[in-house]
Amino acid sequence: MGKLTLEEVKVGGVFETTFWKNPDDASSYPLRATHLDGRRAPKVVLSKDPRVVAGVPCRVRVAAITKPERSDHGIIEATYSGPAPFKLEGVYVDPIVARKLQVLLESGLNILLDGPQGCGKTTLTRSIAQTLGMEFVFFNCGAVVEATDFFATIQVRAGDSGQPVTSFVKTEVLEALERAGAEPEKRFLVFLDELNRCQESARNALMPALDSSRRVFHPIDNRFLAISDNVQFIAAVNRGAEFSGTFGIDAAQLDRFAPLQMGYLPADEEVKLLRGRHPELGQALVERIVAIADAVRNSAELEAGLSVRATEEVCVYLKHPLMLAEQQRMLPEVLKSSFCGRFGGRWDDATTDAGAVWALVQRELMDAQARPPT
Ligand SMILES: Nc1ncnc2c1ncn2[C@@H]1O[C@H](COP(=O)(O)OP(=O)(O)OP(=O)(O)O)[C@@H](O)[C@H]1O
Ligand SMILES: [Mg+2]
Repeated sequence: MGKLTLEEVKVGGVFETTFWKNPDDASSYPLRATHLDGRRAPKVVLSKDPRVVAGVPCRVRVAAITKPERSDHGIIEATYSGPAPFKLEGVYVDPIVARKLQVLLESGLNILLDGPQGCGKTTLTRSIAQTLGMEFVFFNCGAVVEATDFFATIQVRAGDSGQPVTSFVKTEVLEALERAGAEPEKRFLVFLDELNRCQESARNALMPALDSSRRVFHPIDNRFLAISDNVQFIAAVNRGAEFSGTFGIDAAQLDRFAPLQMGYLPADEEVKLLRGRHPELGQALVERIVAIADAVRNSAELEAGLSVRATEEVCVYLKHPLMLAEQQRMLPEVLKSSFCGRFGGRWDDATTDAGAVWALVQRELMDAQARPPT
């Protein structure tokens, strides 16, 4: 996989690349790339296509090659042909979900990620923003009680003579909506985390932002603020036993989003992820941790999920010098707190969810012992 030859780069050919600002300011091409499909290009690749965004991977079509006979001169001129398929570093996303996401993002539709606790909704969205060169705005809706809370918070402080002074402070969301209007060349990804946990009435106030009216009431300036096209909304909701009563996003609200279901990553991918983050732990041990988590997640008895934070926490425990020498003996103890502790009740009370998880954990550990080592 060395340098590409000119025979491989024909006019009309399509390649993946990432452009950056052309360091040659005098050039009539503002964008420059040096690689095509991950290989060094035989000539510098230049583009003046306005659809190309610096730093964002895309597919390009070769429009012209100048001075093909000279190895030290000439350029490859490229035009935009489409976005490159996602390559998200360190995040696993189901290939079908990834493809749908990409379509939705390109169309600018609001997205609602629906998935169990700790399946990677926040991580995925953050990494999408990074990959696409968007400004990431994180907003947790859990604390929203009133409609204005999305856009401003009231701060009370002592004035000069001790009297209380209240002032409105803009939230990150309002700041981003204002900036988006002023900076049309940038793109903003507003992530509304735990949208299902805020007050229904407050959520209603957000609806005009999400439908074709695309505007919100600016509580500080007392006027409506239009939301420009360079703002994309992604919301996340978390279904599970402890939230099932409050999922409560009504049909009209739900209808303003394109819903996308996410699940936990497959066991082998989770093992890979954890081994990558905790290489001190052996393959067999990590496989066992994930297998037990899988059993808990698939249990018909338990409605709530078991976050990847839980399996990761087990790894953090077991690789510590205090545990390292006695991993086998410590594993059940660690699972008691890291797995059972995430459910209601107590591990030693079989009538509770935590007790049911403990029963599952013990069964899995026993099965593993009974199984001859492979
Ligand atoms: N598919 C995944 N790819 C990479 N990391 C993941 C994935 N799923 C979970 N994780 C890891 O698990 C942890 C929790 O992930 P994250 O916070 O993104 O989940 P979430 O779905 O947003 O959770 P919550 O429902 O609690 O908001 C992070 O450390 C994250 O790196
Ligand atoms: Mg989250």
